[in-house]
Amino acid sequence: MNKSRPFVFWNVAIARRVVFLAICWIMPAQALAQTANRQPVSTANPSDPSYPPDVPTLLLGVAWYPEQWPESRWEEDLRLMEAAQIHMVRVGEFAWSRIEPEEAKYDLEWLEQAIALAAKHHIVVVLGTPTDAPPAWMTQKYPDVLRVNENGRPDEHGNRRQFSYTSPRFRRFCRAVAEQMAMRFGHNPNVIGWQIGNEFSFDSYDIYTRQQFQQWLKAKYRTLDSLNQHWTTAYWSQAYDNWDEIPLEDTRGNPGLLLDHKRFVSEVWRDFENDQITALRTHADPRQFITTNIGGLGWSDRWEHYTVAQPLDLASWDDYVGQGHLDPYKDGAMHDLIRGLKRKNFWVMETQPGFVNWAAVSNSLDQDEVRLMAWEAVGHGAETVSYWQWRSALNGQEQYHGAIVGPDGTPVPLYSEIRQIGQEFARMAPKLRDTVPISEIAILHSYESRWAIDFQLHNQHYDQQQVLLDYYRPLRDLAQSVDIVSPDVPLNSYKLVVAPDLNLISGDLGRHLLEYMKNGGHLVLGPRSGMKDAYNALDSRRQPGPLAEPLGGRVEQFYALENDVPVSGQWGGGKASVWAELLSTRTSDAQVLMRYGASNGWLDGQPAVITRVVGKGRITYIGAILDPALMAAAAGWMVKVSGVRPVFGPLPEGVEVCRRVANQRTVFILLNHARQPVQVSLPHPMQAEITTNGEVSAITLPAFGVEVLEDH
Ligand code: GAL
Repeated sequence: MNKSRPFVFWNVAIARRVVFLAICWIMPAQALAQTANRQPVSTANPSDPSYPPDVPTLLLGVAWYPEQWPESRWEEDLRLMEAAQIHMVRVGEFAWSRIEPEEAKYDLEWLEQAIALAAKHHIVVVLGTPTDAPPAWMTQKYPDVLRVNENGRPDEHGNRRQFSYTSPRFRRFCRAVAEQMAMRFGHNPNVIGWQIGNEFSFDSYDIYTRQQFQQWLKAKYRTLDSLNQHWTTAYWSQAYDNWDEIPLEDTRGNPGLLLDHKRFVSEVWRDFENDQITALRTHADPRQFITTNIGGLGWSDRWEHYTVAQPLDLASWDDYVGQGHLDPYKDGAMHDLIRGLKRKNFWVMETQPGFVNWAAVSNSLDQDEVRLMAWEAVGHGAETVSYWQWRSALNGQEQYHGAIVGPDGTPVPLYSEIRQIGQEFARMAPKLRDTVPISEIAILHSYESRWAIDFQLHNQHYDQQQVLLDYYRPLRDLAQSVDIVSPDVPLNSYKLVVAPDLNLISGDLGRHLLEYMKNGGHLVLGPRSGMKDAYNALDSRRQPGPLAEPLGGRVEQFYALENDVPVSGQWGGGKASVWAELLSTRTSDAQVLMRYGASNGWLDGQPAVITRVVGKGRITYIGAILDPALMAAAAGWMVKVSGVRPVFGPLPEGVEVCRRVANQRTVFILLNHARQPVQVSLPHPMQAEITTNGEVSAITLPAFGVEVLEDH
């Protein structure tokens, strides 16, 4: 490793940091904590140029577990990281038994030492609060901290995530450990942020949680009459006379209850997080950001991510492929979804260094594919890409997982590719600073609608991620930039808004969407839209509920399909599968775009897609899941009538372009997902930064090749 490699980010800034570090290390921790208490509490924003001035805006990082190794080894780890231009380590998120070896006895010396050594190697630190892995002394002495599973059995020690998220005692322990860490490191200039716990995961079914749920319902409905009415509990004698009769149920219950349980779970996680945010913010420098990493391959819906992301400064997620290879659309869409959580750039807090250990076949990504995946993340708005993990623990459940150094502590073959990413990130950071993706198309994504559909699939083949991708793929190809956002955000900046499965449309949401159309926007609704109200009850206006009137039509009946059904019309001919809705027009200005062919008799010749002008805009309803060619034609029509333009221009098959813009700058990232070289013509000459250095009007991208273009 070449230690003398030019170090791009730390120049003048490093001098400032060294002085500050020296002052901090000289000051006793208590004095630091006192200083900390006087700091104003505000929200850190990593995109803000003032945050922290000497930290690169494009970071390569790793999850590092110094607690698993002798201290004598740490320096060598950090040296190897620095040589690969890895400038961030996430530390501590599973180290509770090391941080608090006995109740209320904290040992943070080792962490202080690790952070200081990292600083010496120009590596900044994100500290994880260790609350995902409570220590054995705690779970043994206080069994009430343990999670109880769906079958009423308490979890045992020896794994992680074995805590009950509502347990007051567990919350107290979490606050205390977070506070101790913040008092010690809240003003350590080498600590740039905090991660709360790790991938919030399992809700609990203990008695206390059940009581909390009942109280939550009481606060929401106030009277049992109201709850009974909204949940239609006259059905199956479900009527409740006492709040404590209401079960805690997440699979087979009344749809109203199931939806409220999910909302409750979301709010409990937000409170769990807020507890620690308060503990951290009381002592930490406001420039230190607070995040928590999202698991479940980005698509997890155990709780409402918009709710849980709301108090955070930054959204971050764990981007794993698992089995197979990078699917640019799927991964790109998940990046866009995470960017939509806070509608700003995000972090990839974990990603796979080649392979995982948990897939059915934990194959490795091919050579150069890890790099391609990192750059795709950046293209979609990632400001950091961090690998899980640096080195596998010698024992423990994840021995087979990909890592960057082997069990002997020397680099594995992937190390050189990681180093290449590090070098490129270092060079490109100034160009990408403050740039963000901007799109003319938004796809609406709603956890409540997803839950409502998944509670009652009606056709087991109805896969909502697939349905979202059915829209995303052709729209992304045509517009080359798509946002994925919650339905209630301001929509007026979008020319086209597509809601693939907005099953729940409340009165408020209906008004919001109507206003968007009246102001000139084009709203496209997919199948199953507007079937339910905010209580997950059927909307008596029929689909799409509050939007049936502006649509000038409605869904007469839905059908789960056994076989494909022909569909034809303005977008050409093709087929519908899995789901088809028989639409009707009820005003003369509603236009039928597509009709079903011969099928079950009911659908034959009936409308499948209708559209209508509303105010200065338009509404379109697509009642079926259409095949990819028809979806491509549909997307072509949507962008045309909505006036959406591509951000770059024509591209060969397999090449993706991402655009990031700042006030005066536009940067394009070209990604060749194909396994052979391709020639790309640029719409006009641009400055190429990676494969070639200089102004070009065409470029040859190697297999899995990447280019960064500055457009002046
Ligand atoms: C993540 C988790 C990490 C590690 C990784 C392995 O979901 O946050 O701690 O277990 O999976 O792929």
